[in-house]
Amino acid sequence: MSDRYAVVGNPVAHSRSPSIHARFAHQTGEDVEYGRLLAPPDGFVEAVERFRADGGRGLNVTLPFKLEAFAWAPRHSARARAAGAVNTLRFDPGGAYGDNTDGAGLVRDLESRLGFALAGASILLLGAGGAARGAILPLLEAGAARIAIANRTASRALELVAAFADPRLEARAFDALAPEFELVVNATSAGVGGARVPVPDAVLRRAALACDMYYAARETPFVAQAREAGCAAACDGLGMLVEQAAESFLVWRGVRPLTAPVYEALRAELAAEAR
Ligand code: ATR
Repeated sequence: MSDRYAVVGNPVAHSRSPSIHARFAHQTGEDVEYGRLLAPPDGFVEAVERFRADGGRGLNVTLPFKLEAFAWAPRHSARARAAGAVNTLRFDPGGAYGDNTDGAGLVRDLESRLGFALAGASILLLGAGGAARGAILPLLEAGAARIAIANRTASRALELVAAFADPRLEARAFDALAPEFELVVNATSAGVGGARVPVPDAVLRRAALACDMYYAARETPFVAQAREAGCAAACDGLGMLVEQAAESFLVWRGVRPLTAPVYEALRAELAAEAR
């Protein structure tokens, strides 16, 4: 019987993870079966424990359960502790292990696929929620020279800076931003409602790359905002999605799949859906 994995969330019907992991399994020859697990809002722990008792080997965790997964897992990676959230659970004989591959996925997409050198880079991180928090340690470990965090609610940016206690981190008000960043990362959910992020156009115009952590079949509102502001290059979060999945596959199987062909296949699928 194949080793069983799944993505647990609510909703999960839209998740691309099963199609990504099926491609990884095919490519690497790993005997893996990957499905979807819909958990009721108050039934996360029960769903996870049943999946494990039935022989499941690991799970990806998506909204709204990443914090609950962190609280449930008895052991964590350093990057999961820094994020305060778990998106990857591995069921080891000694107990469950909680990891977070989201930030590593962002770093890998930026460096490997987009050729952006993070070492020494000056980065503007927009947002101070879970997505932003998960990106900070991997960006610092990749050698970022500094990371300025701008958030609508200023106190949340200050809290993040205090939590990491790293001199390279600072909180900044949107209206105090100058064009001084090579990379701008959007970790706000503003685009979900079609809203613009209140970052000055001049900041985007000066950046070499603007990266949205969200993706869609069509151009995301933040990618459009960056393009219209005159930013040299912009990407959405599809590459990050594929890379975080590859990192989870590595955590489970000890094998890192090639991501480029999977990214290309997904991008083509999305383009076909948009037509
Ligand atoms: P996630 O886990 O996806 O990061 P979250 O914790 O709800 O979700 O955080 C959402 C982020 O998007 C926050 O930084 C939020 O700003 P606030 O802390 O001020 O709420 C930001 N955000 C959401 N809608 C926004 C908008 N219209 N403009 C600017 N920022 C927005």
